[in-house]
Amino acid sequence: MEIQPNFNFNQFDIKLETETIGRNFLYFTEINSTNAVLLDKSSKNQNGTVVFAERQTAGKGRFKNTWESAKGQNLTFSILLNIDKYLKDKLNILNLGTAQVLASTIETLFQLQVEVKWPNDILIKRKKTAGILVETVSLGANIKRAAIGIGLNVNQTQFTGEFNYPPTSLKLELNQDVDREKILAEFLNNFEELLWKVKNKPAAVLQAYRDKCGMIGEKIYLNQDGKMKHGTFDDIDETGQLLLRTEKGIEVINYGNVAFVH
Ligand code: BTN
Repeated sequence: MEIQPNFNFNQFDIKLETETIGRNFLYFTEINSTNAVLLDKSSKNQNGTVVFAERQTAGKGRFKNTWESAKGQNLTFSILLNIDKYLKDKLNILNLGTAQVLASTIETLFQLQVEVKWPNDILIKRKKTAGILVETVSLGANIKRAAIGIGLNVNQTQFTGEFNYPPTSLKLELNQDVDREKILAEFLNNFEELLWKVKNKPAAVLQAYRDKCGMIGEKIYLNQDGKMKHGTFDDIDETGQLLLRTEKGIEVINYGNVAFVH
């Protein structure tokens, strides 16, 4: 596939140190959704394939939201994983670990303070700079493939529309243009390491997540299908579920949209 000049493939490739992740790299100037490409039934892509799009016409967010991202300015990409026996029970940990690794990659490259909002929103000064959507394909009761979809606002400076959380971008926070190739390569390097850790040291992945999760100990609102709850974000358990302390005691929460109580 012809690589467009806007994304400097050589610069990306030189920094990529992975064995598997991103070694098959599919670049699109425009596609419906990078997750959808990888999960398409007819897709025969190999494990670790990365699909990258300069523009998505139907970018998906969590809870059936859309993901809007200006053409050519940001990072919108997905990673294909074949789900083996070591990973099948750990997708939730992988989801949280991906958020932690993305936050740490940005922190290390740009000396920004980055935190994670449970489960996987990436915030800088409590504004959202990235989101993650993990989608899977099953055969019978078994999950066969997963697409780890990531949208990171890099050089976009204007955002229109309605947002659950106010958006920001790396350029807005740093007041300068940011090199997308370097972030993508560095993130994929770290993601490959994460995969090993999720399989071999899941408790360490969760601990690193706790250290990055800006919500633990905070008073929060939780929206579950329109039903509001509030309490204190006590901790996450060993599977990555949120432990919400309310006056009734500890409630184990496995999905929902959370927000800080100001
Ligand atoms: C969220 O915060 O709601 C998750 C947003 C995930 C967006 C990314 S962009 C690349 C990948 N393809 C999609 O259609 N969605 C994810």
